[in-house]
Amino acid sequence: MIFSSSLNRNLDVTREADVSQHRVIASYKRREQLTWVVPRESSSRPICGREVFVCKYVGASLPAQGEITSPLHKTEVRMLDKLKEIEKTALESLRSITDQAALDAWRVANVGRSSPLMMLFAEFGKLSKDERPVVGVAANRVKVSLESALAERAETVKNAVLAKSLEEEKLDVTLPGRTKHIGRLHPSTQQLRRVLDILAEMGFQVYTSPEVETDEINFQMLNFAPHHPAREMQDSFYIEAEGREDNPILMRTHTSPGQIRAMREAVATNPQNPPSIRIALPGMCYRYEQITARSEIQFNQVEGLAVGKNITFADLKGTLIDFARRMFGQNVRTRFRASYFPFTEPSAEMDVECFVCGGKGCQVCKNSGWLEILGCGMVHPVVLQNGGYNPKIYSGFAWGMGPERQLMLRNKINDIRYFWGNDVRFLEQF
Ligand code: DAH
Repeated sequence: MIFSSSLNRNLDVTREADVSQHRVIASYKRREQLTWVVPRESSSRPICGREVFVCKYVGASLPAQGEITSPLHKTEVRMLDKLKEIEKTALESLRSITDQAALDAWRVANVGRSSPLMMLFAEFGKLSKDERPVVGVAANRVKVSLESALAERAETVKNAVLAKSLEEEKLDVTLPGRTKHIGRLHPSTQQLRRVLDILAEMGFQVYTSPEVETDEINFQMLNFAPHHPAREMQDSFYIEAEGREDNPILMRTHTSPGQIRAMREAVATNPQNPPSIRIALPGMCYRYEQITARSEIQFNQVEGLAVGKNITFADLKGTLIDFARRMFGQNVRTRFRASYFPFTEPSAEMDVECFVCGGKGCQVCKNSGWLEILGCGMVHPVVLQNGGYNPKIYSGFAWGMGPERQLMLRNKINDIRYFWGNDVRFLEQF
């Protein structure tokens, strides 16, 4: 099918039946379907002042009349060619893009404000009124084409990135987890808590008393005379202070001074009829000793004290045997041996059957079959008096034991220095 268009928009479009008498003057393929031709005999000279061009339409349908309005001028052809080139190179470079950054760069370079395409729009001023719509339509088409290609590519890139991250960040739930290094309580604290838990079940409340004491409360009130030989076992770290020669300050050597403080506090609540007491006094004690496998300068103790009316040695035995069963097992065998402490009368030491040999005799129990775990006794009347309790009305029992010693016996630890040596190989075992 042949039809013609004119340089002059107002001229009627003539239709020709055969293109053979026409000469191709421009072969710009608009929409890939049109070939501009000019009648042979007319050369390219204007006919009656009007130059007639013919174009061969090889597409499926004829474009709307007027859509092809003018032959192509030099600038127009150049710009259309350039557009074609822009589209081609842009689409080509887009194809190889695989990441978002490159996509962004592509967008700026190809459809951005200073891209060749946009620069071309700026050149529209050079075109004549007739040319402008032709190039405009083409340029817009290229713009739309690039933008939709960009959107399409962006989708592809997004999916590829997602697929890649899914592949790379695949979580293998069968891999072993990374273990966190969790700290724990010191073995002494653990044992201290075990002891206090059991005593709490038996009705003993925790009472804390100071680690820094006076000689008076640490010794004198507990019936240690100033030069009593029993002091020798418990020499401490004294704090130098002027004018305190009679009553120096020291690091407590045992938890027993807490008995005096607790009794005085209880009596203060009701001096006429002081309440009965059932307490556990835990805490660190200090002694000026040579550090060896068997002795340290600091260690924990848990003191127990029960004061009330009609408390007897039977209560003491019943309580401590019950404690030993709860602590070491229902079948543990115990025994009491007479002993001496200035603050109890009578005094005793309690042994449990050796955990290691079951009583047969071994190195740990020094072949005796028994392990000493605590000292105890009925509270001395002088001590009750010093605490504010009338020994004629009140009686009581007390005991003192060492959590570290219990752990050593239980776990066959042969050196007490491990407790404060800060060696994780030791600490980690608890
Ligand atoms: N305070 C004593 C010591 O450190 C232990 C002790 C023994 C405490 C007998 C007591 C007791 O309450 O009755 O060696």
